Amino acid sequence: MTQPFAYSEGRLQAEGVAVEDIAAAVGTPFYLYSASAMQQAYRRFAGALQGAGLDALVCYAVKANPQLAVIATFAAEGAGADVVSEGELRRALAVGVPAEKIVFAGVGKTAGELALGLEAGILQFNVESREELRLLDQVARDKGVQAPVALRVNPDVDARTHAKITTGKSENKFGIDCDDAAAVLQEAVALPGILPVGLATHIGSQITDLEPYEAAFQRVAGLFAEQREAGVPLQRLDLGGGLGIAYQQEALPTPEDYAAVVARTAGRLDVPLVFEPGRHLVGEAGLLISRVVYVKQGRSRRFLIVDAGMNDLMRPALYEAWHDIVPLREPASAARLRYDVVGPICETGDLFAEGRELPELAAGDLVAFGAAGAYGATMASTYNSRPPVAEVMVQGDSFEVIRARPSHDALMRSESLPSWLGKVPK
Ligand code: LLP
Repeated sequence: MTQPFAYSEGRLQAEGVAVEDIAAAVGTPFYLYSASAMQQAYRRFAGALQGAGLDALVCYAVKANPQLAVIATFAAEGAGADVVSEGELRRALAVGVPAEKIVFAGVGKTAGELALGLEAGILQFNVESREELRLLDQVARDKGVQAPVALRVNPDVDARTHAKITTGKSENKFGIDCDDAAAVLQEAVALPGILPVGLATHIGSQITDLEPYEAAFQRVAGLFAEQREAGVPLQRLDLGGGLGIAYQQEALPTPEDYAAVVARTAGRLDVPLVFEPGRHLVGEAGLLISRVVYVKQGRSRRFLIVDAGMNDLMRPALYEAWHDIVPLREPASAARLRYDVVGPICETGDLFAEGRELPELAAGDLVAFGAAGAYGATMASTYNSRPPVAEVMVQGDSFEVIRARPSHDALMRSESLPSWLGKVPK
């Protein structure tokens, strides 16, 4: 666990609150976020860029954790938002992120989504294909406006991260090949509904090595300079997100290291830069809290069966991702036992950790999954008819539920039987 999660008098604290007190109040499982940790991560990231002499707009990547309270926490710090859907755009606007600090990314924006972005007056659309460019042109002309566009280019760089979250290779669906960018920009300049304002790139997520960034930024900055010289009115460069976090207390590049790479690759362009960090701002600020339901001794394995499942935190099942697991009560001894930590879902893949060494635990004990603030609750499903779990935010000595767990009735209420089956019995 990293700050602000630490034991005090034998109990895991989140800032100034004992996590088990929150569990007693809201029930398990639940996600717990530290507002101060988010603020600190933002200030360090934005401060590092500023410290490197860069003119940077940090647009929080809403997809990492789209809770209104989370977006609002960053908005209060001055952040913009990186959105990828109508829902994310509406969320950012709802909590008062200024439209001129919103960038709209994604390969599949619909005409309706493009129109909404234009009506809101967002900073830029990160356009990922010629097809999208032409549709956006049409939608903008219908409205009698010009759409500000940053062309997302694919630098064909391997981000050396998990295959499912690498995005900057030529075989990935994202962006426009660097070699085609000049031609697409020419087309953009000629389209009356399009105002080309910049380039954008994003090479992947959970990046723990700065070399791929260096290569990608070098390439994109080169293209930017070349196109600007050729007369395309490029004014801004969006370098995406992706900076990794420590899931296993590994040593990682710091925001200052990252900012130095940006400064030496894109700094010479002397244009405003946009960043889209998600995980780095929220990942380590969140925990998933769960209760042990049973300790089941199998023939060859000891199973720790907890009340959170793969539907609540998908990352281990989807990416074989590691999340630290710690008891909420500080272990009295250094003795460790091996457990397969599993949830209640009827799938063998509902496995959080295999053969994990943990202090001895018993039914009823509470545990925390670490670094669960990013891509946790937002990727959850209601599989096995399990309602989405509550989400709680702590700041200082107080905590508040920021998303209540819906009741089973509430979930069933949105459904109905077809007329030939009558009504749902009361
Ligand atoms: N910008 C774009 C265009 C993106 O596609 C992403 C993430 C971000 C920014 C934010 O990246 P971050 O700073 O959070 O790494 N579900 C996966 C991660 C998927 C990331 C998708 N794109 C996971 O749980 O690891």
